Amino acid sequence: MVFICMEQIHDRLLILDFGSQVTQLIARRLREAGTYCEVMPFNTPPDRITEFAPRGFVLSGGPASVTEDFSPRVPDVVWQMNVPVLGICYGQQSMCAQLGGKVETGTHHEFGRTELRIADSCGLFDGLWPKGSNQTVWMSHGDRVTRLPAGFRVVGTSKGAPYAAIADETRHYYGVQFHPEVVHTPDGAKLLANFARLCGSKGDWTMAAFKDRAIEAIRKQVGSSKVICGLSGGVDSSVTAVLLHEAIGSQLTCVFIDNGLLRLNEADEVVKLFKGHYNIPLIHRDASGIFLSALKGVTDPEVKRKTIGRLFIEVFEEEAKKIGGAKFLAQGTLYPDVIESVSFIGGPSVTIKSHHNVGGLPERMNLKLVEPLRELFKDEVRALGRELGLPETLVGRHPFPGPGLAIRVPGEVTKERLDILRQADRIYIEEIRTAGLYDSIWQAFAVLLPVRSVGVMGDGRSYDCACSLRAVTSTDGMTADVYPFDVPFITKISTRIVNEVRGINRVLYDVTTKPPGTIEWE
Ligand code: XMP
Repeated sequence: MVFICMEQIHDRLLILDFGSQVTQLIARRLREAGTYCEVMPFNTPPDRITEFAPRGFVLSGGPASVTEDFSPRVPDVVWQMNVPVLGICYGQQSMCAQLGGKVETGTHHEFGRTELRIADSCGLFDGLWPKGSNQTVWMSHGDRVTRLPAGFRVVGTSKGAPYAAIADETRHYYGVQFHPEVVHTPDGAKLLANFARLCGSKGDWTMAAFKDRAIEAIRKQVGSSKVICGLSGGVDSSVTAVLLHEAIGSQLTCVFIDNGLLRLNEADEVVKLFKGHYNIPLIHRDASGIFLSALKGVTDPEVKRKTIGRLFIEVFEEEAKKIGGAKFLAQGTLYPDVIESVSFIGGPSVTIKSHHNVGGLPERMNLKLVEPLRELFKDEVRALGRELGLPETLVGRHPFPGPGLAIRVPGEVTKERLDILRQADRIYIEEIRTAGLYDSIWQAFAVLLPVRSVGVMGDGRSYDCACSLRAVTSTDGMTADVYPFDVPFITKISTRIVNEVRGINRVLYDVTTKPPGTIEWE
């Protein structure tokens, strides 16, 4: 693991994760308010916590009950550091139980929007919630605090939680039973910003400052060594490459593998931008023949994914050898990947799909990793891309999977089928852009189905493929909702596709949410 930039950030907070589904949102809200923070599991070794030296802690919610033996506890180091602490839901309950209060499993469960009565003023509510007012907050709890530890007073109550908001302003310990991090608590982000201020944060963490620190840290890490970077044309690898280029110039070489599974004109656009505009040394390897012949006759989605992943590594290795002497591999690993990989709750999970990027490379290639984005969320990577002057068409791009169009052609992948899909996808995205909807959609794409149906075109009969259009909204790709296009709009796209793309005579719109569906079809 490579942690960068740490020594230069003084205003940082630490979020200790007790397993809530929305812990990441706490980090998002604090960073949006200009305070740098990280999430670590509640059982992180104490010396790692002291080394991080946060100005304050946020204790997240979680699914356990403090009334049970062996449920997670706040590590003692938190109380020993003499900095402000905010406990949210389980975090509040654990704080109270450990500091001498009492928590019980009540019959007063509260789920969803709830009214909070502001019983008293306190630093958390400054400029926000006056004493005596009623505020809307979002609750999700069964247990509740029934006796406060010494030093605390009640500052907010709800029907099911007499101690819904509590404060000990001598020690700067605060607790809320509700979730300020979710959008259903309308003033929640401001409340978290107030807490950051109480911790002494100036709220001046910006992307420009991050960029400068990241560049310095990259220079320090790699010295005069050569670095290689796998470029896919997606946002993460592009931002990584341009940041590295700013830091170390021609020590960086990018490898772009055209696997024949890209969208229309994609390879040309990527090469033009990186070679032409940025003058970044770029190896462009057209490996489409290798990939397409290996995929011949393959219909199983997992076999497709594994074949593409294996070939990608092989081709990348071949090209990396040609560069000679590279010591580092740059990757666009993002913060959610880092958090997921250290997650402690849940146990072994089923493999739904074998996702891949260049993740399998380092172990086999003996290269050290440079991961300058590993502290950022997707939208922060986009902001960094803008800071680096990357064009909006690239920065705002929808995510595109590593296995490319192969997983959007259920059944056998052939050049003919890929070409048909590319045409349909181009029309679909073009119409979405023209309508000004592109940025409101997380991901939109066409899928070519291995199903033929009868149609009538002019006076003749057609017997061609069906194509399914997908568009979803999402915050992180983990869950997704269907984008609600108007029927006339989607009908217009269908007409264009059927009229302009030879090989498609029927268009469907996929109205499956995730879960139970996944975003991609395979
Ligand atoms: P699913 O289909 O699992 O996709 O709901 C969730 C998000 O991940 C993207 N995706 C991938 N990204 N390599 C990637 O880099 C992959 O193998 C891969 N498979 C899916 C997908 O496009 C969506 O944004």
